[in-house]
Amino acid sequence: MGKVYVFDHPLIQHKLTYIRDKSTGTKEFRELVDEVASLMAFEITRDLPLQEVNVETPVCEATSKVLAGKKLGIVPILRAGLGMTEGILKLIPAAKVGHVGLYRDPETLKPIEYYVKLPRDVEERDFIVVDPMLATGGSAVEAINSLKKRGATSIRFMCLVAAPEGVEVMQEAHPDVDIYIAALDEKLNDHGYIVPGLGDAGDRLYGTK
Ligand code: URA
Repeated sequence: MGKVYVFDHPLIQHKLTYIRDKSTGTKEFRELVDEVASLMAFEITRDLPLQEVNVETPVCEATSKVLAGKKLGIVPILRAGLGMTEGILKLIPAAKVGHVGLYRDPETLKPIEYYVKLPRDVEERDFIVVDPMLATGGSAVEAINSLKKRGATSIRFMCLVAAPEGVEVMQEAHPDVDIYIAALDEKLNDHGYIVPGLGDAGDRLYGTK
C-alpha cells in the first residue's frame, strides 16, 4: 500500500492557510501555490542519492557531495498542476517536464486522456505527478495509468490538499505510488469539492469562473 506523507513544515502550513482563504486574490494565490510547491519539492527530494566528488576550495582540496544524477520527471495534470510546476523546477531545474491532460466524459463521468507528452526515457525516470487537489482520485489514478502505460515504473504523487476518499481510491488503484500532501482534509461534498479545501484550484490560479 502506498504511504501518505503530510508535509507539516510550519511555512507550508502557514502559506496553505492563505491559499485556503477565499479573500486571497489570483495573483497572491498563484504566488503562494508556487512557494508551497518549492517547499514541498525541498521535502520530497530529501531521499535523493548523493555521490562524492572532489572540489578545490580556496583553502584546499576537499571531498564533497553532489546529487547522483538521478533522472527526475515532473508531470503536472492539466491545468491546475501547472500552478505547482515552476515552484518545483526552481529547486530541481534539471528535471524534465511531461504533461497529462484529462477531461471528464459527460456520460460516464470518467476521466479520459486527451493529451500526454512525456520525456523520451520514461523507464529510467523517477516521476512526480502533481495536481493541487486529490479529490475523488479519478484524475490522479488515470494520469498515473497514462504514465504506467508508457513504461513509467517509479512514480510519486504530490498535491496540496487531499480528501480521504481520494487517498483511498489512489491506494487501491496504485499501491506502489506514495502520496505527498500538505493537508489531509475532512471529506468531499456532494459537488466533489474538498471540505474545507480551497475551492476550485484551477479557477483560483487562473482567475476563471
Ligand atoms: N478540484 C478542485 O480544484 N477543488 C476541489 O475541491 C476538488 C477538486
